[in-house]
Amino acid sequence: MEKIVLIGAGGHCKVIIDIIKSTNKYEIIGITDNEKKGYLLDIPIIGNDDVLSDIYSKGVKNAFICIGALNDMKIREKIFNNLKSIGFKLPILKHKNSIVSLYAEIGEGNCIMAGAIINAGARIESNCIINTASIIEHDCKIGFNCHISPNASIGGNVTIGHNSHIGIGSIIIQNVNIGSNVTIGAGSVVINNIDNDKLVVGIPGKVKKYKK
Ligand SMILES: CC(C)(COP(=O)(O)OP(=O)(O)OC[C@H]1O[C@@H](n2cnc3c(N)ncnc32)[C@H](O)[C@@H]1OP(=O)(O)O)[C@@H](O)C(=O)NCCC(=O)NCCS
Repeated sequence: MEKIVLIGAGGHCKVIIDIIKSTNKYEIIGITDNEKKGYLLDIPIIGNDDVLSDIYSKGVKNAFICIGALNDMKIREKIFNNLKSIGFKLPILKHKNSIVSLYAEIGEGNCIMAGAIINAGARIESNCIINTASIIEHDCKIGFNCHISPNASIGGNVTIGHNSHIGIGSIIIQNVNIGSNVTIGAGSVVINNIDNDKLVVGIPGKVKKYKK
């Protein structure tokens, strides 16, 4: 089994641990966290992010970001860049009970959780969270470092820019373009294109505020 280190000992990390154990492909050597100490589930917290270079030089070549950032996706982007500069490989973690088309393209560092479905022609760039029971329909293009929350449904041929968060239980109808650094509130229904840097809520989804 290859060794892997996890970053961020919060609730999202517990779900990632489950996925890793379900695949039987990686041995988790520990979790880094800038605040917490002790254990998360049965995995030791081995220090803050300063120990990552040392861990890499000792032969652990895989890492995974376990922070489920919601409103500020840039935190995950920063950690991704740090891990890549050290040299880590970020694998694709896919729960055994998720469904991913043979005709979908999935970038590095993506985590595809239980019950998620990704259909043919979809392309998901690196470092995204495709959360529990979310649906990415055919031909969607999802940019770098997006979070598709549990039970969100993204209709066919939707595009989403980078660093965007699609809230829990929301619906994006087919052919809509959503920009970068966008947040879609829980339970919203998006029927129109959304520009960069917007927070959108409601049914139908309306811009509530600018995020910049
Ligand atoms: C949209 C969201 C990010 C807003 O958070 P926020 O920036 O802290 O904004 P506030 O809570 O101050 O709300 C701002 C306004 O939007 C409204 N609002 C917030 N979320 C809403 C939602 N999901 N649907 C409808 N209206 C919403 C609030 O009532 C408030 O309205 P007001 O200004 O008229 O009083 C948050 O409510 C949300 O839905 N997050 C998604 C959570 C999620 O997906 N979790 C997944 C975990 S895995």
